[in-house]
Amino acid sequence: MPKKLAAGNWKMNGLRQALDEVRALHDACPDAACDIVICPPATLIRSMVKVCDDMQIEVGGQDCHENSAGAHTGDISAPMLADTGASYVILGHSERRATYGETDALVRAKTLAAWDSGLTAIVCIGETLEQREAGQTLEVVGRQLQESTPDGASPETLVIAYEPVWAIGTGKTPTLEEIGEVHGFIREALVKRFGPEAQDMRIVYGGSMNPKNARDIAGIANVDGGLVGGASLKASDFYHIVKALDG
Ligand code: 13P
Repeated sequence: MPKKLAAGNWKMNGLRQALDEVRALHDACPDAACDIVICPPATLIRSMVKVCDDMQIEVGGQDCHENSAGAHTGDISAPMLADTGASYVILGHSERRATYGETDALVRAKTLAAWDSGLTAIVCIGETLEQREAGQTLEVVGRQLQESTPDGASPETLVIAYEPVWAIGTGKTPTLEEIGEVHGFIREALVKRFGPEAQDMRIVYGGSMNPKNARDIAGIANVDGGLVGGASLKASDFYHIVKALDG
């Protein structure tokens, strides 16, 4: 079984003072058995890398451009993220797919760019409420998985985040059985595509994960961690999720 991953997606939250939360998280669980990565807004990445220098906490970006440099006002490239000391990048989050029209093909191109810079890509997939209600969940997730990820992925370079769009920031989550069904489906698809080593590829769940439900979710087969939004902002909340993933 792969080592579990507790990933925090701070989205567009956090000023410099928020770095104290990372220090507090480290103080609360200095020797966590799971991997921890925090993806703060771009403005905080470099200072967070410095804060985390002697901690077991990695830092990641929330997006990168598919090109390494050029006339792309406001964008950040994968080499730039790597240059800050970041080691992960979230790609294809549903908020970016919805707000900026990011397609599976673009997410795949960004993943290749991330790999070129040695970053581990956390590629997000997940159905809308409409798609779930229409019984299309596995079809949608299967298509996104196939088209958003390049060939040649390995457990070191790719993490899949299953994030049902309707569960993000809503306090609603699928049932444990529903999460298990989708994660099992993703595992099967990964092994078919990338071979037996995909048994070790991490599939993390995201969407209203919190200190109360984390232990139950962490216990589902093929759930190898969490991608946590709101509950990752405060160390006092995220700590409980890290503990739940610690086993
Ligand atoms: P919430 O945990 O706030 O629902 O957000 C989940 C998410 O989108 C993580 O990427």
